[in-house]
Amino acid sequence: MGAGRTGSVLAVLGVLGVCATRGPGLAAEGKAGGEAEWAEPWDGAVFRPPSALGAVGVARSPGAPRPGREEAVDLPVLLWWSPGLFPHFPGDSERIECSRGACVASRDRRVRRDSRTRALLFYGTDFRAAEAPLPRLAHQSWALLHEESPLNNFLLSHGPGIRLFNLTATFSRYSDYPLPLQWLPGIAYLRRAAPPLEERAEWRRRGYAPLLYLQSHCDVPADRDRYVRELMRYIPVDSYGKCLQNRELPAPRLRDTATATTEDPELLAFLSRYKFHLALENAICDDYMTEKLWRPMHLGAVPVYRGSPSVRDWMPNNHSIILIDDFESPQKLAEFIDFLDKNDEEYMKYLAYKQPGGVTNQFLLASLKQREWGVNDPLLPNYLNGFECFVCDHELARLDAEKAHAASPGSIPVPEPHIAQPSHMDCPVPTPGFGSVEEIPENDSWKEMWLQDYWQGLDQGEALTAMIHNNETLQGKFWDYLTEIFMKRNQNL
Ligand SMILES: *[C@@H]1O[C@H](CO)[C@@H](O)[C@H](O)[C@H]1NC(C)=O
Ligand SMILES: *[C@@H]1O[C@H](CO)[C@@H](O)[C@H](O)[C@H]1NC(C)=O
Ligand SMILES: *[C@@H]1O[C@H](CO)[C@@H](O)[C@H](O)[C@H]1NC(C)=O
Ligand SMILES: *[C@@H]1O[C@H](CO)[C@@H](O)[C@H](O)[C@H]1NC(C)=O
Repeated sequence: MGAGRTGSVLAVLGVLGVCATRGPGLAAEGKAGGEAEWAEPWDGAVFRPPSALGAVGVARSPGAPRPGREEAVDLPVLLWWSPGLFPHFPGDSERIECSRGACVASRDRRVRRDSRTRALLFYGTDFRAAEAPLPRLAHQSWALLHEESPLNNFLLSHGPGIRLFNLTATFSRYSDYPLPLQWLPGIAYLRRAAPPLEERAEWRRRGYAPLLYLQSHCDVPADRDRYVRELMRYIPVDSYGKCLQNRELPAPRLRDTATATTEDPELLAFLSRYKFHLALENAICDDYMTEKLWRPMHLGAVPVYRGSPSVRDWMPNNHSIILIDDFESPQKLAEFIDFLDKNDEEYMKYLAYKQPGGVTNQFLLASLKQREWGVNDPLLPNYLNGFECFVCDHELARLDAEKAHAASPGSIPVPEPHIAQPSHMDCPVPTPGFGSVEEIPENDSWKEMWLQDYWQGLDQGEALTAMIHNNETLQGKFWDYLTEIFMKRNQNL
């Protein structure tokens, strides 16, 4: 597809590949990759949505480039700047067929400055402001896929960071290609029958706590362990992960993280012995909901949840989970769980959505019906290919609008720019899991790490925005910009 024409860009890429040295103490240390969600042995346990980084399913189109179709030369090119995500195999570029027409998807960075290259696609977890492709070319859209935890890259949780992008696919319902239900395969997943109460009563008699906690990623922005530790003072919690561990899973195989990251029936069966599962997301953002929420429901347990503040919007009915933040204290929450634990009739009301007609939330039903991608469903496209086609369609429409304007500039205006909004990734500053920031000592690891990390994300977004505004071409200048912003902010304190 003519990528060879731009081969000379390779030399430049060689230079760009050598990324800038880190600024003096400004850059976040030891986060991102290492702390990424997939590092949590238990969190991803039961099923994974089609992993963006793993093998991808069947592309939406039969896809093989059709030699001899001359028009391919003029197709818009979508360049996956995060090459590990390129959802085609084999080769570095592929013709894709979407609703409005065809595009060429590529991961060959040599096409970056090509006039036909209309969009760059980035993966949020990998996006580094210091390595952004500069200069930013006016004819190119930047598209962001970021379904993972915001803790992987807090740059995107700030206005200046998210507004660098034109098109988004995030966990937020407000993003251009929304993925809030990325961990929910479908209604049937929720409808699975719960184990009989007598069975669970028997486990309780054998010494099991009412509540399960299973978390191995301990130092997270949502600071969940601080809350759970407090809750444990008032009600027994069996904790099997590395965080606040007080119990061991029965078999070495189950303790093995390799088992935990597969859909293991034995593990599922074990977890379903518990009536309540503590389900706390690692970061708090609107619509950021993971398997921590859906898995207990699948197993017929009641999630005791803290995460997306708007989680109620997605629940099967209005009485299916317990929200931690509805209670004024861990003690009050403990009292309520204890009450339900002793009162089967009240407990069973939380599982009413499993009965015929029990799923009454029309918004949930409609959202599942409307989405075009599937979760672990070989018959449906995955959201990686889905978003790629969304970007293709958007660029084809933008090309048409530009052509229409060029043909009659007097009557048809220049197409409006399309810019991502903070609502596409709505993650406020992290707050303590329990108590107030003032009460927590300065040397607390959560306070030292996550508050800093969050605000550094803002600085980085502002630095890159300023560089783009000034038409900077050298990535290496990023650290100068960042230092300047950092100094300015601290002067104003
Ligand atoms: C919950 O749903 C039930 C039945 O659909 C309804 O009667 C009740 O008013 C609802 N409660 C709230 C708080 O919305
Ligand atoms: C893309 O977003 C930038 C802001 O980050 C904006 O300046 C530009 O006009 C937008 N481009 C398009 C094609 O919408
Ligand atoms: C934090 O500081 C206090 C007193 O200054 C000290 O007792 C404590 O051990 C420190 N904690 C950590 C985690 O360093
Ligand atoms: C950046 O380039 C654009 C387009 O070439 C130009 O209009 C603008 O004035 C430049 N900005 C700066 C700060 O040089």
